Order: sequence, then C-alpha cells, then structure tokens
Amino acid sequence: MISWLMTACLYPCIVGPDFWGLVNKHWRMCTVGQMQSPINIDPSRLLFDPGLSEISIGKQQVEAELQNTGQLPMITINETTKFDTTDFIQIIPKFVNISGGPMIPYNYRLHHVIFHFGRIRDNEKGSEHTVDRVRFPAELQLLAYNSDLYENFTQAMTESKGLLGIAIIVDIGEVSNVELRKLTVASQSVTYKDSKTILTRFHPSELLPNTKHYVTYEGSLTYPGCYETVTWIVMNNPIYITREDLSIWNDLQQTEIKQSNPVFMSPNYRPLKPLNNRLIRTNINIKYTSRNPGSCPSNIYLNNGYRSNPLKIKHLQKPPAGSRHARRSISTLSEGEDENNDAYDQAYTLSQFEIETSDNNNNENDRIDF
Ligand SMILES: *[C@@H]1O[C@H](CO)[C@@H](O)[C@H](O)[C@H]1NC(C)=O
Ligand SMILES: *[C@@H]1O[C@H](CO)[C@@H](O)[C@H](O)[C@H]1NC(C)=O
Ligand SMILES: *[C@@H]1O[C@H](CO)[C@@H](O)[C@H](O)[C@H]1NC(C)=O
Repeated sequence: MISWLMTACLYPCIVGPDFWGLVNKHWRMCTVGQMQSPINIDPSRLLFDPGLSEISIGKQQVEAELQNTGQLPMITINETTKFDTTDFIQIIPKFVNISGGPMIPYNYRLHHVIFHFGRIRDNEKGSEHTVDRVRFPAELQLLAYNSDLYENFTQAMTESKGLLGIAIIVDIGEVSNVELRKLTVASQSVTYKDSKTILTRFHPSELLPNTKHYVTYEGSLTYPGCYETVTWIVMNNPIYITREDLSIWNDLQQTEIKQSNPVFMSPNYRPLKPLNNRLIRTNINIKYTSRNPGSCPSNIYLNNGYRSNPLKIKHLQKPPAGSRHARRSISTLSEGEDENNDAYDQAYTLSQFEIETSDNNNNENDRIDF
C-alpha cells in the first residue's frame, strides 16, 4: 500500500499543496517539478496525432476496497480476487489490463481509482484538470502501473514510463453513471478517515464515458510525492452524477470520528500547474469530428472548433478567496457545539484565511504563463 497517502496531510490542511515539497524530502517534486499535474487543457494548443490509437481497458469485474484516506476516497484493486459460488471457487482474472493509445507498446494494470470533487451545495467545482479554464463538478482518476516493466505500483511510481492516469470528468446529470451510483452507495460506509469497505464486484470499465476521443500529456501524480512518471489521458466526454449523489460524497470527512463541527474532505483537488511547453496530443481530428453529423452532442470540450462549451463558461463562478483548499478548520473545532448548518458555515468562514497564501498563485481566473 501507499502508506504516505494514508498519513499525509494532503490537501486543504495547514500545510497545503504548495508546501508539500518543503515538508518531506520525498515530496520534493511537488515544489521543484516542472512537469506537474493537474494542468489546464487549452483547446487551441492541441496537437492532433493520427498515431494515437483507441485505448483498451479490461471489461472484467474485480474485488476492490474502498477506503477513506482522510483526503480522498480511494478504491484499490485486489489483485488476487476470487469468487466462491455454490459449486466451486471461481478464479476470475486478477488484473484489469489497460493498453493502446499513448501506452503502446506497454501494458498497464489498474491499481487504484480516486475521486476529486467540490461542495455541491456551494455549486463549487472540484475537477483537477480544467478545459479552457473551466473547472467541472468532479473528476474520477484511474491510476495504473506499467506491468511490463515493473512489479507493482510502488516500484513503478518513481520510474520512467511507470504510471498511467485516466482522468474522467464528472458532470451533473439527471441520472448517475451506474457504476458511480454503486460507489456512491458504498461511500456511505466510509464516512470517517481510515474506514474501509469491500466492493466484491467493482467494474472499472463501466466508469468510462462512451467515447474513443481523448487528450494526453506527460505529467505527475497529483498527490505526494508528485512523481513525474504519469502519462495522463483525459477523456473527451464526461460521465454523469446527480446532485443528490454528489452531495452524498460530500458527507465524507477527514476525521476518524464524528466531530461536532465536521471537517469535510471536499474540496480535494490540487491547484493547476503550469504546462511549461509540454505537448498535449489528441486523437481527435477536428476536421473530421466537426463535420461528422453523428458526433456526440455531449462532447464537452472540443466540439466545433475546439472551443469549450459556452454554457459552461457562463456558469463558471469564481469561488470565494481561499475556499478552494481552505475549507478546513483544524484548530477551531469546539466540543459540544450542535452539529447544524450554522456550525458548518462558521467552520467554512473561519477556515478561509488559513491557507490563503497557497491560493495566491493559483487563482482560477489568473493566467498561467505557458
Ligand atoms: C483479496 O481477495 C482475496 C480473495 O477474495 C482475499 O482472501 C484477500 O484477503 C483480499 N486481499 C485484500 C488485500 O483485501
Ligand atoms: C493482462 O495482461 C497480461 C499480460 O500483461 C496477460 O497475461 C493477462 O492474461 C491479461 N489479463 C486479462 C484479463 O486480459
Ligand atoms: C514491489 O516490488 C518491489 C520490487 O520487486 C519489491 O521490492 C516491493 O516489496 C514490492 N512492494 C510491494 C508493496 O509489494
């Protein structure tokens, strides 16, 4: 397991993301790295690469464990899954293989899935990657390791061509993606830090949107140690979740036990990092897709001339200063206070000045010099 992920003060703690590299020498890349993630995807800078084939992800179900790490909900694949049926023990494939696209010629194995989101009741967006500066309600990330070159995730994460990250934007819709709905239900068993629940039939491929289009770039883990070993793939269509389901995820807390003044996990995304002249490649042939009458209308990013959906821009709201990763009030929890909305609002307000410094260079509306 990734022990530092379990213990690290990852996101909106006093030691916010901008200070990761100063806290632990193994996290140095978080501050000195120049190929960090997440990034803004600027649709006008995409490079069409006809050599990028479709990605393929194993369709099987696996056993997995959903855990509240205190900072993120994390679903770790059990690589030794077996099912007992009435008559016999059925050994199902242990690995969800991922290959094709920018991974060629290597094969990767899914290791864990994490979920980033904002607070839906504040209409706060929580995706890590943004498209044309637009942030989306949430983002699922499938992290896999190169199983041709490395033994396991831990070994691969510090090595060249070690990891693959598939980012799936999650938007608000009338019906939740079926697999995400199941995870939502399971998340109710892991409200507090370190709690875990087993998912006996986790079906990762069902989390993918119905598209073969994506953009890809070379980046890093978005949590410590921020190793620059990740080939990122950002899928070109979202999957959906209802407001109600996203608000269930918002109940997840950072503390091990119930607090009178709850310390919520969301928002749990890392601020944007500069592109620094990295290439962003895509398999979307703009001429072809814009003329193709069958192209999917829900294509959120790159429809019609690579402009993001104007509706999304219109709805973009600037969050209050410091709110992006300052929704925490570590020393301000007072015992015996009623757990009610006022207490929550108070914690929210109080927490706004705690980490404001880390927000200065990462305001959503600031331009990052590419
Ligand atoms: C993985 O699954 C096997 C069989 O279902 C079980 O015996 C084992 O304890 C599981 N491992 C973990 C780490 O959950
Ligand atoms: C996954 O890939 C490995 C080779 O890396 C192969 O042996 C295995 O059969 C594949 N599993 C599935 C379920 O496709
Ligand atoms: C990962 O693989 C390396 C190299 O084989 C090994 O030393 C290490 O113990 C493995 N780690 C885990 C968590 O299995």
